[in-house]
Amino acid sequence: MSLPLSLIRDRFIGLDTEYPLASGGVARRRYLDSAASSLMLRPAWETAEAFLKHYANTHSLLHHGARVATHACIWAHERALALVGADPATYACAFAGSGSTGCFNRIARSLAALRPERDVVLVSGMEHHSNDLPHRKHAGQVEHIPMTGVAPAFGALDLKVLAARLESNRGRVNYVAITGASNVTGIINPLKAIAELVHAHDAWLVVDGSQLVMHAPVHMSDGIDFFAFSGHKVYAPGSPGVIVGRRDLLIGLEPDEVGGGMVDDVSLEDYIVSESFPGREEAGTPNIVGAVLLGAALETLMQIGMDKVHEAEQAMLAPLLRELASRPRVRVYGDTDLARSPRTGTVAFNLEGLDHGLVAAALNDYFGVAVRNACFCAHPYVREMLKPELWDSTLDVELESGIAELEMHQGMVRASFGLYTTWDDVQALLAGIDRLCADAQGFRDRYERGSDGVPRHRGFSAPVETLFDPGRELARAIAGGRPESPARLKVGI
Ligand SMILES: Cc1ncc(COP(=O)(O)O)c(C=O)c1O
Repeated sequence: MSLPLSLIRDRFIGLDTEYPLASGGVARRRYLDSAASSLMLRPAWETAEAFLKHYANTHSLLHHGARVATHACIWAHERALALVGADPATYACAFAGSGSTGCFNRIARSLAALRPERDVVLVSGMEHHSNDLPHRKHAGQVEHIPMTGVAPAFGALDLKVLAARLESNRGRVNYVAITGASNVTGIINPLKAIAELVHAHDAWLVVDGSQLVMHAPVHMSDGIDFFAFSGHKVYAPGSPGVIVGRRDLLIGLEPDEVGGGMVDDVSLEDYIVSESFPGREEAGTPNIVGAVLLGAALETLMQIGMDKVHEAEQAMLAPLLRELASRPRVRVYGDTDLARSPRTGTVAFNLEGLDHGLVAAALNDYFGVAVRNACFCAHPYVREMLKPELWDSTLDVELESGIAELEMHQGMVRASFGLYTTWDDVQALLAGIDRLCADAQGFRDRYERGSDGVPRHRGFSAPVETLFDPGRELARAIAGGRPESPARLKVGI
């Protein structure tokens, strides 16, 4: 029996945090920034807290605490493999760093070392920098593959161009690195079709699952060779990045990082690398508490069922896109035809005549809605989508003020869903958008741009120490008081 989503939806830490509003009073925040980092799943946090009573290092089985820690870490790796449908006989899982960025750097270095004679990597034009720059730096010559459609309504990766580039670089493409879903538009790439093309050219497929794994089912058997994602985006802040990769490829290479825990024996002359996973890929003490958190969060997702998660999200995404399309002053980026270009619950938009920074600030200050703005570490993709607007603009880029203006316009606002997102949250966003569109000049007048280019309200501020002061919180904790709010608890190693 699956776990009803309704039993979990409000079990996240930080959903009831209240912040002051520029119009007076306070409001419970509406967290629509899950693509950046999702909120902590309370049952996962409670699991990690319960584990702390046993806390010990792994790498030993001779005292009870160490056995508990080792077992809990193995359990977490098994959960990660199961979530993406990875057969443990074919795939291994390793935890690394604090997100997927470290994973992509490792994958790039490793795959380049495995086949140095293959010096070309194909990367899509819609990548987050973390699945682009590591390949540029470590893996050879990167060619970027465009998307279907035209800006600002790009669709998924253009399979025809991908096929042509694989062909024109025949024998040279080591691997293709592609995001499962865009962190800007939420557009999902057709991984199975991509894998078929990639494998027909004896290349490997590396998938960035950072924006896919919490929104939709993933099947490694679709032909994915390496898959990576960030624990902090799957309701387990403080947990590591995750790599799921082919055992036969990993075993053929000395692990990228060396140190304690990944060797069977070391002499002054030599060392013997362990053959067992995940140990050989995780030099040093792992992020044990983070691993437990992550395992618990992933297990919860599996108990709900990723198909159910996806369905519930789509039930809010489709009406949100329709609502936005009905507002003439809103421009949504990426193809909005969900049948043609499936998406996750991530939507990037701009409002006519309002800078993206001002929109994000005003949504926060007046409506308690937390969204992200600018280029979301996907500068090439965002700029391509903005080009038609910038071409239309009357800005004089010969003037310094024109360039500053241009930079200000080079961005978008992004709202992104998590398991806890409700239609009420979406309505709060829409209400904010309507107020902003109805009184664009009024809102522009309330803000000025600081020397750092960030819009600041002329009369309202909420100094960060008044919201949360770690020193004060620590003093309270030492004095034996309860923390002000569970949202302020932080986990880390
Ligand atoms: C698609 C995508 N890939 C990679 C990353 C990098 O993740 P992290 O910052 O956790 O390393 C992100 C983060 O936003 C992302 O959205």
